[in-house]
Amino acid sequence: ETEIVLVDSSVNKEETYSQAVEILRNGDIVAFPTETVYGLGADATNPQAVEKIFTAKGRPSDNPLIVHVDSKESALNWVQNVPAKAIQCMDAFWPGALTIILESKPGAFAENVTANLKTVGIRVPNHRVALDLLARVNVPIAAPSANTSGKPSPTLAEHVYHDMAGIIPLILDGGQTTIGLESTVLDMTSEPPVILRPGKITKEDLELVIGTVRLSSEIQGNAPKSPGMKYIHYAPDVPVYLIENDEALVGKAIQHVQKEGKKVAVLSTADFPVADYHFPLSAETLYDSLRKCDQTDADLILATVSTAPNRSDAMMNRLEKAADHKWFS
Ligand code: TXA
Ligand code: MG
Repeated sequence: ETEIVLVDSSVNKEETYSQAVEILRNGDIVAFPTETVYGLGADATNPQAVEKIFTAKGRPSDNPLIVHVDSKESALNWVQNVPAKAIQCMDAFWPGALTIILESKPGAFAENVTANLKTVGIRVPNHRVALDLLARVNVPIAAPSANTSGKPSPTLAEHVYHDMAGIIPLILDGGQTTIGLESTVLDMTSEPPVILRPGKITKEDLELVIGTVRLSSEIQGNAPKSPGMKYIHYAPDVPVYLIENDEALVGKAIQHVQKEGKKVAVLSTADFPVADYHFPLSAETLYDSLRKCDQTDADLILATVSTAPNRSDAMMNRLEKAADHKWFS
């Protein structure tokens, strides 16, 4: 059975954290909130515990996990050959939504955390509950997003419950996550550093601190360096199509679909009263809206976007994956 504990209003937070720490020390999983999305946490030094994460998510074992620690000082105990630019990024962006890929110390983590790579993705999350938990458990916590593999990431405890009920023992409920999209992943083992996954912290934000940064989507002919990038992600069960954010065009598309006797859900900032369903579209609401579409009997989802996709835009990146790059026509 899976217990959800609301941490913010919990009368006895210490008791809740002790319970969570005990579960983690015993090699089991605790889901917890971060400022990006909820994570499915386990002791990153315990291979059996880490294995449970892959099983719970149905995640391919060649896709490495992000490790969470409570401070820059803790992080530096687990990585080596850290470039000066990485220290600058830690100082500028931690705690925060930046995962930094660095060389891990040999034997530091369970091998399944890093999928046998010599590198590790590490970050200090900017969320009270996550930081309180990490400080108390005092081991690095491997935590991918707390969704079933291939489903939208969870931004609410109830999303985690939907995917993980009966599979994990405890969910710490810290309310809605503020950013709503996963962290920026920056590979700092190459020079210049490369953004493997865009997020709220942008190329421009990073360049103000460390100078030139590249986007992996701009580097041609390279095998994906982030193993997770080859998988279809963030997909709801209902097929998603991108469409230019133009009122007349979207209106015609809705009519066309409805004439075939199908129901359509529209994701957009503006309301579309003729659509069978409408859900808001923003970084903060994207995953919740995709999950809500799955609760309807819609046959397809139209996501209204600008036609000049900006490859560094985190929401566009997630939407393109959800749509498997399909445009409505
Ligand atoms: O915001 C986030 O990053 C959330 C919260 C829970 O912290 N976590 C998250 O983890 O999104 P996950 O496992 O769903 O995504 C991790 C991404 C994957 O695309 C993975 O392939 C990549 O980071 N990654 C992890 N370690 C890597 C490494 N050593 N080298 C390259 N890519 C790596
Ligand atoms: Mg994920």
